[in-house]
Amino acid sequence: MQADIDRILITRQQIAERVRELALRITADHSPPILDAGEITIVPILTGAVIFTADLIRHMPLAMKIGLITVSSYPGAAVQSKGAQLLGRQLGDIRGRHVLVVDDILDSGGTLRMVVPLLQQYGPAGVKTCVLLRKDRPAARDVPVDYVGFDIPDQFVVGYGLDYDDYYRNLPEIVTLRPSAMGKSP
Ligand code: IMP
Ligand code: MG
Repeated sequence: MQADIDRILITRQQIAERVRELALRITADHSPPILDAGEITIVPILTGAVIFTADLIRHMPLAMKIGLITVSSYPGAAVQSKGAQLLGRQLGDIRGRHVLVVDDILDSGGTLRMVVPLLQQYGPAGVKTCVLLRKDRPAARDVPVDYVGFDIPDQFVVGYGLDYDDYYRNLPEIVTLRPSAMGKSP
């Protein structure tokens, strides 16, 4: 695993600090009297957002529920989006609630462009979006997002929830992989 890492882009300390800052902002934006009606439902987009979400919500002292949605856009060893595909959902009742969609990374924007209208159909009080990473490419900048952790170069990254062929999600940093690691399993 470690031998497959090319470069550490964002360290675990940088991630921890930024996640805490984001959580403070989200909490402020969802606290009375700013939003006095309607609790929040956090909706991580599985699988990539699980680690980010777990860290984020532990800095958010709000009454909240968690809904789940599973989207796949990079099946198997793909390193370019193949189009977002909805694989499952377990949202609970989000009618009248403030929904915060959490994703690991904004790349082509296909995932959020599919998920946000889908959630709107259930009559929530509002839908906001939060991504840990946003790639520096026009498609990503064209999608409005409420909370962004880091803007990064347009490179394929793994770690802290992000995968290559479902591996490397458990790395504590955001890293790039050596070319030799792509195309084989660790
Ligand atoms: P989008 O739909 O193209 O914006 O991409 C969003 C999804 O693609 C994310 O939730 C990730 O699961 C996946 N993804 C995009 N870029 C990367 C990357 O660099 N590494 C790993 N997964 C990525
Ligand atoms: Mg994902």
